[in-house]
This record gives sequence, C-alpha cells and structure tokens, in this order.
Amino acid sequence: MTHSDDADFPARLSADEAALLQAMPQLQGVGQARRSFMIHSAAGSVGLFAADLLAQEAALAQMPLPHGAAVAPTNAQNVVKVAFQVNGTAQTLELDSRVVLLDALREHLALTGSKKGCDQGQCGACTVLVDGQRVLSCLTLAATLEGREVTTIEGLAQGEQLHPVQAAFIKHDGFQCGYCTPGQICSAIGMLDEAQRGHVSHVTGDVRKTTTRLTDEEIKERMSGNICRCGAYPGMVAAVQDVHSGRQAAQTWGYATQTQIASDRKEDGHATI
Ligand code: FES
Ligand code: FES
Repeated sequence: MTHSDDADFPARLSADEAALLQAMPQLQGVGQARRSFMIHSAAGSVGLFAADLLAQEAALAQMPLPHGAAVAPTNAQNVVKVAFQVNGTAQTLELDSRVVLLDALREHLALTGSKKGCDQGQCGACTVLVDGQRVLSCLTLAATLEGREVTTIEGLAQGEQLHPVQAAFIKHDGFQCGYCTPGQICSAIGMLDEAQRGHVSHVTGDVRKTTTRLTDEEIKERMSGNICRCGAYPGMVAAVQDVHSGRQAAQTWGYATQTQIASDRKEDGHATI
C-alpha cells in the first residue's frame, strides 16, 4: 500500500504517532509539512525511529540551559561545571554530564592530539595522563575530573624541547601514519612511571620480587592496550627501551641530503631543482 492519498494518512496513525508529529514543529520551518515528512520517511525506510530522534532533538533544543552554559551543545542534559588543569592551564567547562574527557578535549578545548579510534576502550588511541597516570579518555567522564591535572600529547614538550619519549619515537621510527602515536606516547610515559613504582605485569617472572627493570617482553605486554594498525611496534619497543634503559641507542636512519635527493630525482628522470 502506498501513501499516494495524502489526506488519508493521519487516519492511520496511532495516538502516539500523532503526538509525535505534533512534537516536530521545526519541519514546518524548512518548508516541508509534517505529514509529508512522515510519508517520505516511511517510503524511504527511515521510519518512526528516526522521527522519534528528530522529535527528541527538537524538544531538547527548546530546553533552557543553565546560566553560563555557552559551551554546552544545544541538546545538553544535566549540565555540570568542572574545573581542572589541562597541560598546566586552568580550564572550567560546563558540560553535559555524559561528556567523556576525549570529547571535552577535542570538541571543547580544541586539543585534537588525542585521537578517537574505537571510542569504547579497545584501542588506546585516546590515552592521556590524569595526575600522571595513563587513562583512556574515551571511557573517562569529564565530570569526574574536578581538580585533577590532565596532560595530553600537546602538553609534553617544553617549548622546542621534545619529551624524551617523543624524541625516542622519532629516533626509532616508532610510527607510520601517526594516528595511534599520541596515545602510544602518553601510555609509554605512564607505563614507565608504573614500572618505576614497582608495578608488575602478566609476564613478570616473579611478582614477589620488586624489579623496575623492563625487558622487551615486559614493554610489549604493558603496552598491549595500545593498538597500532601500521604495525610500528618494533620501533616503539626500541624507543621505550631507549628511554627506560638510558642506553641511548644510535639512530638508524637519517634525513636525505640535498645531494641524495637531487641524485634520486635524476635517476627517476625528473628535472633537478
Ligand atoms: S578511542 Fe579510546 S580506547 Fe579506542
Ligand atoms: S602508526 Fe599508524 S596506527 Fe600506529
């Protein structure tokens, strides 16, 4: 059966559906009748689920927000105020109580270094430090961080001086696309501190002995919550081991010189610059 006869359509709506239509006044504003919208939604298999979401959006958009909640999105609920430090700077945000730290950083503070990979605690791309300990920011409610100190990848370097783990990642070629790298670096910093404090892992031989010495196996295990789709793990382990051991292994690669670049271009048949 089609909805070619528009006039009959309301008669087939249940009371709930009719009420739903009344809750969608914004559609009139874009020049489309509510009844027409329902017909097209049904014909396009969008259905009442989508209509319900739209109705909720409309209702939420009309809710007054608490005073000063300028940074909260228009559909924010249970707005809470949270004051914390981010990379050494005091920040006060008014957020929907459901906002996670990752979204607070990326959407409200424009700190997009922390990456959203899975958004469900599986990949580690969103790892940041809270009071020096590594946490998954996609699983941490921002509202729980009152008075805490958050450090993201943007806050690790001191001016032009990279954090030792950042420098080691470059030295050991510990990344390819770089998407996982902010999380890997924050995780490595947190992990090294854990090891320093005597934390054990699943591959620690004797958990009764306190040792702060990490083998490559220990580093791999302790970093296993951080996934790299490029498979740059060998370089990362070498980088972390470099910082941990203080042995400062030599860099195994170098930037091409202008002479090498010119020579390669010539071999490839390009004009020299
Ligand atoms: S985005 Fe947080 S663990 Fe994947
Ligand atoms: S460097 Fe590409 S995901 Fe790790």
